[in-house]
Amino acid sequence: MNDKAKRALLARIQHRIRVSRLNVRSGIEIDRSTYIARSAMIQIDTDGCVLGGRVLVSGGVTISDGVIIAPYGGIIEIGANAYVGPYCVLYGHGGLAIGRNTMIGAHTIILPANHGLTRVDRPMNSQGLTKKGIAIGEDVWIGAGCKILDGVHIGNGTVIGAGAVVTRDIDAYSIAFGVPAKVAGRRHGFPMANVSEQTADTLPPGMLLEGGPSQLL
Ligand SMILES: CC(C)(COP(=O)(O)OP(=O)(O)OC[C@H]1O[C@@H](n2cnc3c(N)ncnc32)[C@H](O)[C@@H]1OP(=O)(O)O)[C@@H](O)C(=O)NCCC(=O)NCCS
Repeated sequence: MNDKAKRALLARIQHRIRVSRLNVRSGIEIDRSTYIARSAMIQIDTDGCVLGGRVLVSGGVTISDGVIIAPYGGIIEIGANAYVGPYCVLYGHGGLAIGRNTMIGAHTIILPANHGLTRVDRPMNSQGLTKKGIAIGEDVWIGAGCKILDGVHIGNGTVIGAGAVVTRDIDAYSIAFGVPAKVAGRRHGFPMANVSEQTADTLPPGMLLEGGPSQLL
C-alpha cells in the first residue's frame, strides 16, 4: 500500500470513528454510510448544555463542512442520499423532515420556530416560541443562501432558487424564488435550456469519493 492509499485508509477509519462517536450520544442515529465533514456539528448536548431532541440521518447522506444541526427538542430527519451543503444551519424546534435525494445549497438556514412577539411589555426572548415544523419533500433542490421559515411544506421535485426566503408552502415540481419566494413556473416548461447529464464534476463533495460515501466505512 503506497502513502496516498495509507492516508486515504486512515481518513476513512477516522471518519468511521467520528460517526461511531456521534452515535453513542443520546438522540443521534446516523447511518454508517453517511459522510459527515469533520467541522460539521450536531448540537444536542454541546459543552454540557443539553439542548435535547433527535437527529436521524439515513444512508448515503452528505453533511458538508461547517454545517450546524441543532434540534432544540425537535426531531430532524434527513432522508437517504440527501446533500447538505457547506455552512447550512438546520434547526429542529417544531420538527424538520428532509426527503430522500434532496440537495440543500451552501449557507441555507432552515428555521422551524418563531419567537412570540405579541406583547410589548416583555422581552421577546421570554414570550416562548411557536413551532409548526417544516417538511421538505424528496428530490428537492434548494439553492444557496435560502431561508426556509416555520410551517412551510415544500413538495417533491421542487426547485427553490438561490437566495429565496420561503414563507409559504410550495407545490411539488414547482420552481420558486425571490423574497418572499413565489412560484415562477413548473419544471416542465421553465427555461433551464442547458440541462446536461450529471457528471462526477457536478456531484456533491461526499459523492466524489471513489465508490461513494460508503467507501468511508
Ligand atoms: C432557479 C434557477 C435554477 C433557475 O435557473 P434558469 O432556468 O437557468 O433560470 P434563468 O437564469 O433563465 O432565469 C429565469 C428568470 O428567473 C430569474 N431568476 C432565476 N433565478 C433566480 C433567483 N434565484 N432569484 C431571483 N430571480 C431569479 C432570472 O433573473 C430570470 O428573470 P427574467 O426572465 O426577468 O430575466 C437558478 O437561477 C438558481 O437559483 N439556481 C440555484 C443555484 C445554486 O444555488 N446552487 C447551489 C449549489 S447546490
